[in-house]
Amino acid sequence: ASLSFSFSALIRTGSIHAAEFGHLPDNITVLEGESVILRCKIDEEVTHKAWLNRSNILFTGTDKWSLDSRVSLVNSNDSDFSIQIERVAVADEGPYTCSFQARNQPRTAHVYLIVQVPARIVNISQDKSVNEGDDVNLFCLAVGRPEPTITWKDFKYGRMYEGEFLDITEIKRHQAEEFECITNNGVAPPDTRRVKVTVNYPPVITDVKNMPAQLGKTAILRCEAMAVPTAAFEWFRDDRRPVESDNTLKIKNEKTRSLLLFTNVTEKHFGNYTCFASNRLGASNASMLLFRPGAVYGRGASLSACLSGLGFWLGLSVSFLVKV
Ligand SMILES: *[C@@H]1O[C@H](CO)[C@@H](O)[C@H](O)[C@H]1NC(C)=O
Ligand SMILES: *[C@@H]1O[C@H](CO)[C@@H](O)[C@H](O)[C@H]1NC(C)=O
Ligand SMILES: *[C@@H]1O[C@H](CO)[C@@H](O)[C@H](O)[C@H]1NC(C)=O
Ligand SMILES: *[C@@H]1O[C@H](CO)[C@@H](O)[C@H](O)[C@H]1NC(C)=O
Ligand SMILES: *[C@@H]1O[C@H](CO)[C@@H](O)[C@H](O)[C@H]1NC(C)=O
Ligand SMILES: *[C@@H]1O[C@H](CO)[C@@H](O)[C@H](O)[C@H]1NC(C)=O
Ligand SMILES: *[C@@H]1O[C@H](CO)[C@@H](O)[C@H](O)[C@H]1NC(C)=O
Repeated sequence: ASLSFSFSALIRTGSIHAAEFGHLPDNITVLEGESVILRCKIDEEVTHKAWLNRSNILFTGTDKWSLDSRVSLVNSNDSDFSIQIERVAVADEGPYTCSFQARNQPRTAHVYLIVQVPARIVNISQDKSVNEGDDVNLFCLAVGRPEPTITWKDFKYGRMYEGEFLDITEIKRHQAEEFECITNNGVAPPDTRRVKVTVNYPPVITDVKNMPAQLGKTAILRCEAMAVPTAAFEWFRDDRRPVESDNTLKIKNEKTRSLLLFTNVTEKHFGNYTCFASNRLGASNASMLLFRPGAVYGRGASLSACLSGLGFWLGLSVSFLVKV
C-alpha cells in the first residue's frame, strides 16, 4: 500500500506552492493574513477521514465541526481530502493532522503550519532636540515572526549598532544627525524608520576680521557664528552703543552670520565694532575694527603695529584682540 500526502500553500497572488513529501510531518509556511490549503492525498479506499487542528476536529468527511468561518472544505473524494484556512492568524500556527481509515487501518499524516509575520517597527523614539553634553537614549521596538533583528544605523559615520536601544552618552555637536532603525526577519523587505537628533549648543564666533575702509567707499564687517538653534546677532560700538541701520549703514542678518554694510564710509564709521551672537544656551562676542589704512587706534593698534612690523591692522585675530 502506498500513501502520499501533500500540502500546498495558496498565497495572496493565487499561485500555489506545492510541497510533496512522504510520510514525515512537514512544515508549511504561510504569511499572516494569507490563505493556505492543507491537502491530504489518499490513493486507496478510505472509509473515514478527518482533519484536526491539534486535537480539535475541523472536519470529519464532509461534516464541518469547526465553528471558524475561515475554515472550509476544498475537496473531498477518493483521492484527495483538502481544507482551506483563510486569513491565517498567528494563533493558527501548530500541528494539523489528516487522519483516516484505509482497509480498517488507522493512518495519519501531520503537517506543521508556520505563520510568518513581516518585521515591522511598532514604536520608535521621536525626533529629539537635546543640549550638548546630554545623554541620548533611542529605542526602536519591532514585531515579527520569526523574531526580527533590530539594527541602528548612523548615517553620518556609516556605523551599525545591534539592538533595540541606542545610547549616546554626553552627546557632542558633531553627533547631531539622523539615525535609522532597521528591522528584518527575512520574510519581507526590512522595515526602516528614522529619528533625527538635534544637538543644541551656544554660539561660537568663527570668523571676524578687521577691515580697512576708504572714505566715500563701501565696506563690510562680517561676523560668522555657529550655533544651534541659530544665533541672534547684535552689534555694538566701542562704548557698547547699539549699532543701528541708517542711510549709510545696513545690518544684514543671515542664518549663520551678520553683516554690517557701509554704503558710504565717513569719518564717524571708523572704530571698534563688537558682534554679539546669542541663543537660549548662551552668547559669545567678538570685536573688530573698521579702520583707515595707516591710522593708529588705541593701545591695541600700537601693540599690533609693533608686533607685525607693519602700520596695518589686516588680519588681526579676535583672540588677540580680546587679550589686548
Ligand atoms: C520544521 O520547522 C522546524 C522549526 O521551525 C524545524 O526544526 C524542522 O526541521 C522543520 N521540518 C522540516 C521537515 O522542514
Ligand atoms: C479528486 O479531486 C481532485 C481535485 O479536484 C481531482 O484532481 C481528482 O481527479 C479527483 N479524484 C477522484 C478519484 O475523483
Ligand atoms: C487552531 O487551534 C488554535 C488553538 O486551539 C486556535 O487558536 C486556532 O484558531 C485554530 N485554528 C484553526 C484554523 O482552526
Ligand atoms: C511608544 O513608547 C512610548 C515610550 O515608551 C510610549 O509612551 C508610547 O505610548 C508608545 N506608543 C505606542 C503606540 O505604543
Ligand atoms: C558719501 O557721503 C558724502 C558726505 O556725506 C557725500 O558727499 C558723497 O556724495 C556720498 N557718496 C555717495 C557715493 O553717496
Ligand atoms: C564678551 O566675551 C568675553 C569672553 O570672550 C566675556 O568675558 C565678556 O563678558 C563678553 N561680553 C559680553 C557683553 O557678554
Ligand atoms: C574693542 O571693544 C572691545 C569691547 O568693548 C574691547 O574688549 C576691545 O579691547 C576693543 N579693541 C580695541 C582694539 O580697542
